[in-house]
Amino acid sequence: MNAEPAGLPQKEKWGSRIGVVLAVAGSAVGLGNFLRFPGTAVNNGGGAFMIPYIISLIVLGIPIAWCEWTIGRLGGHRGQNNGPGIMYSLNRGPLGRVTGTLTLVIPLAVYMYYVLLEALCLRFSWEFFSGGFSSMFADAVSNGTSVTDAASGFAAETFGMSEDGAMYGSAMLWIVLACFMVNFVIVYRGVTKGIEKFCIAAMPLLIVCAVIVLVRVLTLTEEVDGRTIGHGLGFMWNPDWSALRNPEVWLRAAGQIFFSLSVGFGLILCYSSYLRRNDDVVLTSLSASSTNEFCEVILGGLIVVPAAILFLGPGNTPDSTFALGFFTVPAVMQYMPGGAFFGGMWFGLLFLAAVTSSISMLQPAIAFLEDGFGMRRKASVTVLGLITLLGAGLVMYYSENVQALDFTDFWCEFMMILAALGQVIIFGWVIGAKRGVDEANRGADFRIPGFMPTVIRYVTPTFLIVVLGMWLLYNAPERLEGMSPGLQGDRAARGVYAARIGEQFPELAESEEALEARVTEILGVAERMPTSLDGLPDWLRGVDGDGEQARNSAVKNANVARFVFLSVLLFFIGVFAVSDVACRGRIRQMLEARQEVAE
Ligand code: ALA
Repeated sequence: MNAEPAGLPQKEKWGSRIGVVLAVAGSAVGLGNFLRFPGTAVNNGGGAFMIPYIISLIVLGIPIAWCEWTIGRLGGHRGQNNGPGIMYSLNRGPLGRVTGTLTLVIPLAVYMYYVLLEALCLRFSWEFFSGGFSSMFADAVSNGTSVTDAASGFAAETFGMSEDGAMYGSAMLWIVLACFMVNFVIVYRGVTKGIEKFCIAAMPLLIVCAVIVLVRVLTLTEEVDGRTIGHGLGFMWNPDWSALRNPEVWLRAAGQIFFSLSVGFGLILCYSSYLRRNDDVVLTSLSASSTNEFCEVILGGLIVVPAAILFLGPGNTPDSTFALGFFTVPAVMQYMPGGAFFGGMWFGLLFLAAVTSSISMLQPAIAFLEDGFGMRRKASVTVLGLITLLGAGLVMYYSENVQALDFTDFWCEFMMILAALGQVIIFGWVIGAKRGVDEANRGADFRIPGFMPTVIRYVTPTFLIVVLGMWLLYNAPERLEGMSPGLQGDRAARGVYAARIGEQFPELAESEEALEARVTEILGVAERMPTSLDGLPDWLRGVDGDGEQARNSAVKNANVARFVFLSVLLFFIGVFAVSDVACRGRIRQMLEARQEVAE
């Protein structure tokens, strides 16, 4: 029952149950758990954030993961290990085509920025272990610079945040290339010998390292300005119930579940296609999700923010995940006794967690090139290496203010919601929820509860549509405006003139509306800038240069935002076209050959 039908090529399968669980958990556990989760939770209500988070886990995360595991195993049984082929085997209409394309585009697009953060973790681990950070911090203190400023300055310089292209001339280029090598060597070795073996070693190792760092943090006895580690834990987890009234908090919780569990990406789809027909998916999926939640809530939730609050104080934890992870944490580690060792261990475990995730982002495309075009491993790895190098190279080039990375992440989140919706509709309505759940229960060590078909058919898609609606309502307008160079340029320039007007009329400082009304009166136009500056008072003209500079920088940012949007769109269209060719060609032939053998 487990072998491929006679007359068809034997395809690779996972070697062991623990191997699959650790590989899928490895895909899930990553920077999202250790950096994105604490930052998101603390900025969205702390303990209260856990309410939308747990609801999203139950209504979205677990059911979508079950759908993805089941669809993937079914696709694998039909000889497909690639998203477009798996979806084509279930639905040949636009729904299957678009969903299949998304399951290929999302992992690759995420990989293109994720690998840069992976490289940064490796660099930071090295700096701690080699003593580079210790001497940098010692120099900073003797020069009168704060440790926090020194850490932020180092991260900003390393990641080329002040100028586009800055990372190209630095050591980061080589570290990124080294990370590419690590990832591609693992996937080149295949699912069992590469991915499974690596995850079996890396996952326990990284969890042990995280537990060691956690014990260090929880046993800190230092008192800083009257604060103890207990204050840090309280800050992280005290609930701000009013946050629950904010729909954006619910949106952030859903986004975190997608990113962290790796559901909706197409990663689980690909990994589960390497299961045998009667291998359990129900308990295996729950085991991988539980491992992810342990790493996220227990390990991720108790380390970074509590330690940062203890040493730096409330109000000094930045809103952005990037700043929290790479500006704040190195400084916090420096303040901690034994910080060089624990810092090196922390960034080392982040690196491992990132690799177990990034290899899972490459495998769907490798499987696609092999199934869809009959490429051999060497060719598929080479083609994919070139495509991802180009993409990551562009994200790396547009490094100013981490802009390209931020925009790519933003559009990926949007595509994840669509891909998850597509998969749930295919499971609940195309296969049929009842039939789908029966299929999931085949060989299961634990049966999916009887109410789940109703949840998958109605509740999960409705929740997803609400999330999509909120996403469009709250995020899209601002991002679309962000792609307008004229508007952004005007706003930035106006900000400079408004600040000068505020200085001229200090009595307006009390009221934003009053200041805005005066700015409009003086500039002669609301919200934008006048086409000519000729009529402006002389005292205001002194900021012309600064205004022009602010305008140019904002125009450039808006152009990068446009570029990222168009690149993601073109990438989607390109992958759609290529997967269409594969589905109508080799994939269809494979499916027909399989059907003949079955008959
Ligand atoms: N699920 C992966 C992470 O959390 C992508 O980083």
